[in-house]
Amino acid sequence: MKLVYAFAICAAFLSTPGYSAPLSSSSSAAEPIATVAYASNNPNRLVYPAGETEEAPQPIRDELGASILGPQNIPIDQQNPDLLAPPTTDAGTVGNAKWPMSLSHNRLQTGGWARQQNAAVMPMATGMAGVNMRLEAGAVRELHWHKTAEWAYVISGYTQVTSINPDGQNFLATVGPGDLWYFPPGVPHSLQATAQSPNGTEFLLVFNDGDFSEDSTFLLTDWMAHIPKEVLAKNFQTDVSAFDHIPGEELYIFPAEAPSPDATAVQNPQGQVPSAYTYALSQVKATPLAGGSVKIADSSVFTIATGISVAEVTVEPGAMRCWHPTQDEWGYFLEGQARITLFASSGNARTYNYQPGDVSYIPASYGHYVENIGNTTMRFLEIFNSDRYQDISLSQWLALTPPELVKAHLNLSDAVLDNLNKTKAVVVGPASSS
Ligand SMILES: *[C@@H]1O[C@H](CO)[C@@H](O)[C@H](O)[C@H]1NC(C)=O
Ligand SMILES: *[C@@H]1O[C@H](CO)[C@@H](O)[C@H](O)[C@H]1NC(C)=O
Ligand SMILES: *[C@@H]1O[C@H](CO)[C@@H](O)[C@H](O)[C@H]1NC(C)=O
Ligand SMILES: *[C@@H]1O[C@H](CO)[C@@H](O)[C@H](O)[C@H]1NC(C)=O
Repeated sequence: MKLVYAFAICAAFLSTPGYSAPLSSSSSAAEPIATVAYASNNPNRLVYPAGETEEAPQPIRDELGASILGPQNIPIDQQNPDLLAPPTTDAGTVGNAKWPMSLSHNRLQTGGWARQQNAAVMPMATGMAGVNMRLEAGAVRELHWHKTAEWAYVISGYTQVTSINPDGQNFLATVGPGDLWYFPPGVPHSLQATAQSPNGTEFLLVFNDGDFSEDSTFLLTDWMAHIPKEVLAKNFQTDVSAFDHIPGEELYIFPAEAPSPDATAVQNPQGQVPSAYTYALSQVKATPLAGGSVKIADSSVFTIATGISVAEVTVEPGAMRCWHPTQDEWGYFLEGQARITLFASSGNARTYNYQPGDVSYIPASYGHYVENIGNTTMRFLEIFNSDRYQDISLSQWLALTPPELVKAHLNLSDAVLDNLNKTKAVVVGPASSS
């Protein structure tokens, strides 16, 4: 399953019966002639199927390449067979599109940790950055704010979030695995693990700025430590001695007593935030597809989330997704084994392999597919820095273009053209081998 086959694969299962427009043969125009050689018929199958390589993989594909004689980082080569022995459809230069969180510096604190991916480690990822954070039961990511929006997906356990908006309305909610939160730019908030899961919580944060750094957010303790105490006393209308025991520097993540899972927001004369900062995506029923399923949460259902939207996609073994996004796409792999080829125009294409915990990045308009190359369900998040989830499917595009024109480009048979599905397929099943 390779890019040369991608068109056929995307179209294979999608028969819209009876496309009746006949292909013109009475045209007086000159017969189309090939002006370039045909694309290679090499199916470019995986040289090392995911997870099946016991021995050191070698950079050899068919008659190309040769064995490695020098030192080799075998586990990394086993995880990235399509970089070691690329499909022959790969060519030219494409920016790095893979960042394993395992390669990030990890900031260890009492009560948890945080590690990030941003443009400093993945220069192509200009539109979004991500943080993977862990809090033990009760631990707090302290009250803070930043100039980008913050979107989150809970990976494990339960997280209680609090916030206040510029109108003085407040918010408190507890979210669990598969749920989301979103804080607009500048809105102060806190994150705290409840004890509903004895291990606390772990979540993924995404920010709509590739240069975002978790190490340069605005923290309550850091701010208070850098204001003259005489000013603090005036601000809070109290005595200077009230601040004898505030921390001298930022806390960032710190242990605390676990909050009650059914806590509610402080009673407020201004009322509560009208549009919730959390969304129970875990309670949404996934839409079943030919080769998987999808759940979408954008501002059409999670109204406050105008800066970031998500599709949580599952792809069954052998199935794939094939399209191009209309915005940059930040991806995070939760389960299974995936392969993506990014097509960057002008003959540039590169194929990457992904494992759970890896980040992918696909700039707006780059054509690509995401294929499950493992034996188990592959599940990942596609995150966009926009208020609406949008994409364009390759097979739908061709199905809705005059067939004569498609034939003039690709010289596909009438049978293949008749089979193109006019309905958008988000995920397609494996191609039949018949
Ligand atoms: C076309 O694709 C849609 C969406 O995946 C699917 O529901 C439908 O069954 C397909 N039609 C045919 C004829 O395969
Ligand atoms: C198109 O494909 C057919 C075989 O299906 C071949 O006979 C014909 O020469 C091809 N046309 C061009 C322009 O390559
Ligand atoms: C995946 O399934 C194939 C076909 O059933 C089998 O040959 C292969 O060993 C399996 N691989 C793994 C890693 O389980
Ligand atoms: C808590 O973490 C430990 C160590 O990672 C793990 O073995 C255990 O299953 C976890 N417990 C729960 C309830 O998730």
